[in-house]
Amino acid sequence: MARTSPDLPWNVRIFVNTIAFFMDVCRRSNGRINRTLMNLLDLKASPLSKPVKGLQSSDIMVDKSRNLWFRLYAPLHHAAATSLPVIFYFHGGGFALMGADSKSYDDFCQRLARELPAIVISVNYRLAPEHRYPSAYDDGFDALKFIDGERIKDRLPANANLKRCFIAGDSAGGNLAHHVAVKAAEHEFDQLKIVGLIALQPFFGGQERTESENRLAGALMINVERTDWMWKAFLPDGSDREHAAANVFGPKSVDISGLKFPATMVVVGGFDPLQDWQKSYYEGLKKRGKEAHLIEYPNAIHSFYIFSELQESSLLIKDMRDFMRNE
Ligand SMILES: *[C@@H]1O[C@H](CO)[C@@H](O)[C@H](O)[C@H]1NC(C)=O
Repeated sequence: MARTSPDLPWNVRIFVNTIAFFMDVCRRSNGRINRTLMNLLDLKASPLSKPVKGLQSSDIMVDKSRNLWFRLYAPLHHAAATSLPVIFYFHGGGFALMGADSKSYDDFCQRLARELPAIVISVNYRLAPEHRYPSAYDDGFDALKFIDGERIKDRLPANANLKRCFIAGDSAGGNLAHHVAVKAAEHEFDQLKIVGLIALQPFFGGQERTESENRLAGALMINVERTDWMWKAFLPDGSDREHAAANVFGPKSVDISGLKFPATMVVVGGFDPLQDWQKSYYEGLKKRGKEAHLIEYPNAIHSFYIFSELQESSLLIKDMRDFMRNE
């Protein structure tokens, strides 16, 4: 029988199984999420109001009426004269779970900010099924416009280089990153220049069952039973997974050939059931004349990057740094 997971440290395996268990117990059969339960299980982290290892962070409200805010990470030990790239980050969680203040994502964004280094803007977008497509995409794009605007000027670190912005995200956040990048490509910003897109194991799909979805049906974290539920919670009532939000280069997709789309890095794991969709995404970008780079880690499971002890997690930071340097 084909292996569905690599050798992993026992603590990683336990943590992954725990997250998967949480995802399952918070999902109700009627397609809703038990938020009370989720808030209990989803460990939160406060921003770093005092510097820790050369990093400070703060939460900034964009629009109170929909609780749209972001956590801003600012590395301090870099001289103000040295400009740092800016990353708009979208967390994963199947469009329905987690937040910018979830401990796993706070830890990961701290690592990105310190180790790349970069200014990181981790966006707390609205979640499904309470807020379906396109709420999360609107929130993501509005966060970009907010940073482009006057109101934020004094609150951004002086060394933030708005001419070198990247849009990044993992899993459902990688899907968001793509769709926000499309909106950004259709928009004229005053200050911002989006120079790259980093899609970490982005969550794309369709009606078809791919080879990797079938072969890795027993994989850790992700399987079609869970992903089908997530799409159903996120997509408009009555639509199937051929919707352009899921199947970005499928029959219902919007043609982006003519768009000035940023260079894209697509990260794929060999033990991720979603890898065939992600490779199709990479191929789709190339076919439409976009600059795209495929990075494959044969032993990586879905969401490997939140485990700093995994070798691929360090490799990812190095590969992101190389990609960002060249854009
Ligand atoms: C949410 O989960 C908690 C704990 O299991 C349970 O007591 C509560 O009844 C659930 N709420 C709903 C609306 O299902």
